[in-house]
Amino acid sequence: MALITTKEMFEKALNSDYAIGAFNVNNMEIIQGIVEAAQIEQAPLILQVSAGARKYARPVYLTKLVEAAIADTGVDVALHLDHGEDFEICKKCVDDGFTSVMIDGSKYPFEENIRLTKEVVDYAHDHGVVVEAELGKLAGVEDNIKVDARSATFTDPDEAAEFVERTGVDSLAIAIGTSHGAYKFKGEPYLDFDRLKTIHALLPHTPLVLHGASSVLKEFVDRCNQYGGEIPGAQGVPEEMIREAVKHGICKVNIDTDLRLAMTAEIRRVLAENPGEFDPRKYLGPGREAITRMVQHKIRDMLNASGTR
Ligand code: G3H
Ligand code: 13P
Ligand code: ZN
Repeated sequence: MALITTKEMFEKALNSDYAIGAFNVNNMEIIQGIVEAAQIEQAPLILQVSAGARKYARPVYLTKLVEAAIADTGVDVALHLDHGEDFEICKKCVDDGFTSVMIDGSKYPFEENIRLTKEVVDYAHDHGVVVEAELGKLAGVEDNIKVDARSATFTDPDEAAEFVERTGVDSLAIAIGTSHGAYKFKGEPYLDFDRLKTIHALLPHTPLVLHGASSVLKEFVDRCNQYGGEIPGAQGVPEEMIREAVKHGICKVNIDTDLRLAMTAEIRRVLAENPGEFDPRKYLGPGREAITRMVQHKIRDMLNASGTR
């Protein structure tokens, strides 16, 4: 039992019929809920930490909590920095013991993204840490009015091949129509599968990563709404589309919003049904169980990863 890199899990998952879930963590209950699910499902696991999560929990807490979860359960975990925006935060995480970092240079011009990614790859590889980069921009819901306009920001397959070749990056996040958060599409959900297939054909040995992969399941949106707090117009990527993407080279699937919805819906239910309750354990406990159920569902029914560890 240890902190491990994604190298072996990606080698196994590449060109297989399953993908690895990468779940965002912010506190103890979320970490415990996810790790328990991976343990039950016997699935490989990536826990990822955003800059916002590091700021919220303070960096040392999340690293120590993940170490504690490994010691407690015996589950191997890859600890990954999500959306590192510059060299400094990637270096900090490498130095703090992360086994994987993402450098997100997607907002920069191609050459600058290559330069920055290469700088992180050189440092991380020297320290035995793997690197994910991003090429193409994940569009927001407002960009979804016209698919044509939106697809201009999608990952260019030839650029993707050149990018991987010149940076030596270990995995690549691509833009094919997903976006972060609970408001992904205004009209029909749309992912550019032809583009994904082309990228995968050009980069058959590179694990591809899908960000913004939450499905914003109706059951949880309805429950949030039922117990107060409207989330009008929320729409995610149908799980069937994620399953299809996994068949064409997507090896790592990033999920945060679905965990937030599951946990919050359950906490709202408990507090609505027990208005006199003020012991945090009485609602955080059920919140943690809701995380476990959601992660088990994702691993088993969407990622097809049960029993692959
Ligand atoms: O991609 C973003 C993740 O959902 C993390 O979100 O920056 O609010 O922690 P955050
Ligand atoms: P969601 O907002 O769709 O859960 O995406 C999370 C993500 O991509 C984290 O990097
Ligand atoms: Zn993301």
